[in-house]
Amino acid sequence: MRLFVRLLKNANPKIEYYSRFSPSPLSIKQFLDFGRENACEKTSYMFLRKELPVRLANTMREVNLLPDKLLGQPSVRLVQKWYMQSFVELLDFENRKPEDPHTLNDFLEILIDIRNRHNDVVPTMAQGVIEYKEKFGFDPFISSNIQYFLDRFYTNRISFRMLINQHTLLFGNDTNPAHPKHIGSIDPNCNVAEVVSDAYDTAKMLCEKYYLAAPELKIEEFNMKAQKKPIQAVYVPSHLFHMLFELFKNSMRATVELYENSNESLPPVKARVTLGKEDLSIKISDKGGGVPLRKIDRLFNYMYSTAPTPSLEPGAVPLAGFGYGLPISRLYARYFQGDLKLYSMEGVGTDAVIYLKALSSESFERLPVFNKSAWRHYKTTPEADDWSNPSREPRDAMALLSFSLWEQPTCIYTK
Ligand SMILES: Nc1ncnc2c1ncn2[C@@H]1O[C@H](COP(=O)(O)OP(=O)(O)OP(=O)(O)O)[C@@H](O)[C@H]1O
Ligand SMILES: [Mg+2]
Repeated sequence: MRLFVRLLKNANPKIEYYSRFSPSPLSIKQFLDFGRENACEKTSYMFLRKELPVRLANTMREVNLLPDKLLGQPSVRLVQKWYMQSFVELLDFENRKPEDPHTLNDFLEILIDIRNRHNDVVPTMAQGVIEYKEKFGFDPFISSNIQYFLDRFYTNRISFRMLINQHTLLFGNDTNPAHPKHIGSIDPNCNVAEVVSDAYDTAKMLCEKYYLAAPELKIEEFNMKAQKKPIQAVYVPSHLFHMLFELFKNSMRATVELYENSNESLPPVKARVTLGKEDLSIKISDKGGGVPLRKIDRLFNYMYSTAPTPSLEPGAVPLAGFGYGLPISRLYARYFQGDLKLYSMEGVGTDAVIYLKALSSESFERLPVFNKSAWRHYKTTPEADDWSNPSREPRDAMALLSFSLWEQPTCIYTK
């Protein structure tokens, strides 16, 4: 305990020290090669005992750039406490030699503790943002900073868990007997259509529970590399499942709500899986009425939802309502250099496309780095809009024209 208090005192200079290193992104191929070729626990330990504090320190420095009033919210303080404790626990291994008989085992146990401690980071941080918004409101500058921050903070968390999971699955007792061929959390032969079906089935169960009906699924595959062969990816199936599950829930909700008062049968949701040279793409198309173009970007904002706020009773799994489905799914897609985009035709329906890299050697982790550019993002206020904004234009443009011709023309430029 005394050691912990001493380490806590030393933590700030250490955070400063580790945050000066940039995180080292790994590709899926590197994860795979390392796990396959006589994975060495000592090597993994030596890498992680530095890389994990580096990733934590980078994100902890960025948390400190948030507005003071947001940092003061109880939920945000709690999240900060978790990060600090995990950071300090990792520092304990700075000088511990892997040859020491207890080191590797203690490290494994600490990683499991850290993973459990951070289980609720996403809802707790979200709660902190809600607390802040309710008390102080958001202006557009703060709102865009928080969006920027959460994207980076949650990406960091995805990456942190990826590293921990690889180590504990390869070297701990929690290996997955159901998937002996997986390398840690990676499936080297992930059958994409099967994950699509699984995600659909799970979303369908939820949808039927809420609406007593759900649209059918139609899957098509186009394998440009090897026609008629099922499309396989080297990927983390749980990440893929997460994205597809979120997209199916959204498509099902839109479809069922549009047809709620109609006698027509529900149009199916279509999934098209395609493999090209560079991209493996999965398109989920629905006929749920779509979204106007003006609102598309907004759908990726944290907490934007058109569903009623779901109950937070333990065990309740809502179909929609947090507004985290799309933004977090896009982070998963982007994490390994892919993306998630929405194309909608208002009045008809929506296509959501998940893009993944076809080659595991190109799927490098995309990680936030704490540096001057990141710092500038939080500290510099936005400049005036450099495109005309109809809401700010005078009602009578001719009046302004005549005014500016005769009076002070500069008034048009000072916004
Ligand atoms: N396929 C779609 N068709 C029509 N509207 C959609 C579709 N997908 C998303 N939306 C709109 O985007 C909003 C945000 O979606 P998102 O998945 O991020 O959050 P949510 O579904 O409301 O809640 P949850 O976090 O539980 O998923 C939805 O509330 C809905 O209004
Ligand atoms: Mg959703």
